[in-house]
Amino acid sequence: MSEGLFPVAQFQTMRTPFYYYDTVLLDQTLQAIKAQTDLHEGYHLHYAVKACANPKVLRHIVTAGFGADCVSGGEIQACLDAGFPASEIVFAGVGKSDWEIELGLKAGIQYFNVESIPELEVINEIAGRLDCVARVSFRINPNVGAHTHAHITTGLAENKFGIAMEDMEHVISLAASMAHVEFVGLHFHIGSQILEMDDFVALSNRVNELQDRLERQGIAVKNINVGGGLGIDYQHPSQHPIPDFEAYFSTYATHLKLRPGQHLHFELGRAVVGQCGSLITRCLYVKKGAVKQFAIVDGGMSDLIRPALYGAFHFIENLTAEKSLARETYDVVGPICESSDVFAHDYQMPHTQRGDLLALRSAGAYGEIMSCGYNCRPLPIGYVTEDFR
Ligand code: LLP
Repeated sequence: MSEGLFPVAQFQTMRTPFYYYDTVLLDQTLQAIKAQTDLHEGYHLHYAVKACANPKVLRHIVTAGFGADCVSGGEIQACLDAGFPASEIVFAGVGKSDWEIELGLKAGIQYFNVESIPELEVINEIAGRLDCVARVSFRINPNVGAHTHAHITTGLAENKFGIAMEDMEHVISLAASMAHVEFVGLHFHIGSQILEMDDFVALSNRVNELQDRLERQGIAVKNINVGGGLGIDYQHPSQHPIPDFEAYFSTYATHLKLRPGQHLHFELGRAVVGQCGSLITRCLYVKKGAVKQFAIVDGGMSDLIRPALYGAFHFIENLTAEKSLARETYDVVGPICESSDVFAHDYQMPHTQRGDLLALRSAGAYGEIMSCGYNCRPLPIGYVTEDFR
């Protein structure tokens, strides 16, 4: 049986699959972040909403006093609905539509993370039409690699993200010549699920170089935004439920040289919500094939796409089997008509049978939000601890 982290008795009667967010752990995680950011003058977290936009989860994050990093009009709206002050919302993305820019301007968001000159021109034009000034921060591609999956490294010159370093001064002077934009900062992001602090050291060194360059030209920068990227322990979610925020923030405090009065913004997503969420699914059948034993569950790649898309590992816990049962080897697979609909190959679990509830752990980030209706399956519902009190 599970160690009591999950209200298993209540789960038994529920329709599966669904997401469950342990909001006690979420609140502890938020407090752990706060404790670190409070130590350093000018540090501020804008939660990366792309990781999970469940409204109940967002409420906890607003209540803890964090801002938001959005990448679409839909995310901006979700944040406004959840109670984030517009002045604490930043808006990034390589392809912002006109209506999304308008929404951000009308709401009065803190700033836009701008990724190209054509985008800057459109923002200036729309702000002119609305008779306001858009605060803009430039996303610079720092050409710093990160030790992570190729699909989620973003800071290399070959990636589609950001403005090339050599164009930095040019875009800043262009902004200065425009009537409806105000330059307020520089933005960076090198990738996701990063566990080596050296990658963040490399980014800090790059930011220092660029800041020195601007300083020599008398250009002041109000905000530095280093994006997100801190990884979590997918292998041992129960042993490491809260990421090492001390190591993360102190790396920046040691290596990134902030100028007096400058603010340092962070956009963590995965590290905030990853460990508190699980996909709860039920075993439908156990099937012995010619060479494999399959545990066929009712959740699939439409509910949690990370294993199929990135070959990602999620720890699977059988919540209802007696832990003392002999361990057996299973391919844990979903019901969807795709060979890639596999959560784990050759996975060792206690003897599993029809009706058992399984938790796919560490699924709070990029889980529910990436679910889709493939095979006309209903989207999974997200529940939080409060729903079971
Ligand atoms: N800021 C920017 C500009 C980003 O592109 C991202 C993530 C973040 C912040 C938040 O990064 P985090 O702290 O969560 O690592 N779906 C993939 C992850 C894609 C990340 C995209 N950008 C996955 O399931 O692993």
